[in-house]
Amino acid sequence: MEQPPRPKLFDFHGVSMTKYFTDNWDNVQNFKARPDDILIATYPKAGTTWVSYILDLLYFGQMSPERQDSIPVCERVPFMELHVPGLRSGVDELKKIPTSPRLIKTHLQVQFVPKSFWEQNCKIVYVARNAKDSVVSFFHFDRMNLLQPEPGDWNSFLQRFMEGKMVFGSWCDHVKGWWEKKQTKSNILYLFYEDLIEDTERELGRLCSFLGLSPTAEEREQIRRKVLFDNMKKNKMANCSTDEGYDFNISPFMRKGKVGDWRNHFTVAQSEQFDEDYEKKMRNADLQFRTVL
Ligand code: A3P
Repeated sequence: MEQPPRPKLFDFHGVSMTKYFTDNWDNVQNFKARPDDILIATYPKAGTTWVSYILDLLYFGQMSPERQDSIPVCERVPFMELHVPGLRSGVDELKKIPTSPRLIKTHLQVQFVPKSFWEQNCKIVYVARNAKDSVVSFFHFDRMNLLQPEPGDWNSFLQRFMEGKMVFGSWCDHVKGWWEKKQTKSNILYLFYEDLIEDTERELGRLCSFLGLSPTAEEREQIRRKVLFDNMKKNKMANCSTDEGYDFNISPFMRKGKVGDWRNHFTVAQSEQFDEDYEKKMRNADLQFRTVL
């Protein structure tokens, strides 16, 4: 397929978006969630694929080993609002999923989540990652993902990130919106990428208790090993190498998988400017992130 031009960013009900995530809006909003559906919600680059793979292994790792060898994670966990004509539609893929529960990926800001997820009280796993590593990861992703807007150079990308002019909007609004929602909803588990890096086993335990799963110690250990960065990077079904639109000559999808890589990108001046802006926007939020471990 000939590569279409990169999409333009536009304001959509106060949030920056591209047509690939708004063109199927009515079908997304009218999506009929089932009570056992599990939504994996993140701001882009927070470890969505990592957590998707963990959940898939928890639910289906023992049941269907052939699934692990033949279906890429991005197909096992459809991206609900993604709609690229002639290529992929998350809603259509979800309708065809034969297994249950369905694991569903979304990057939507909390106010855009289809109402059926709340009506059905579906379990939702939200993953957040510190802003500085998120913007670095996002920059490299937008360089290699030809279905994303042109990233421009690093400094202009960083300025746009601070202004919230990224696909799926402002990082601050995203993490704060979901955090506030979690205060009143027991069906949301709020995880941090940094915690997953620090102690994957502990976070696996949190996930299992939230989901009501009790894998054996051996199964847990198997999962822990399979989802290590280096193992996922080698695994064609988990490293997104089959995804369309990615140019791996520019950057790999499984890039570094670290906390603190921002220090290799931010100048001192950029870091100070970022911190000042962050402080203003996050002042009233009772939400703490770690930018180093
Ligand atoms: P980096 O670009 O910093 O390396 P998403 O899936 O939300 O797009 O997030 C992608 C980010 O998660 C990338 O970050 C990727 O390397 C990282 N990642 C994916 N799998 C990981 C794993 N098993 N361990 C640590 N980081 C992982």
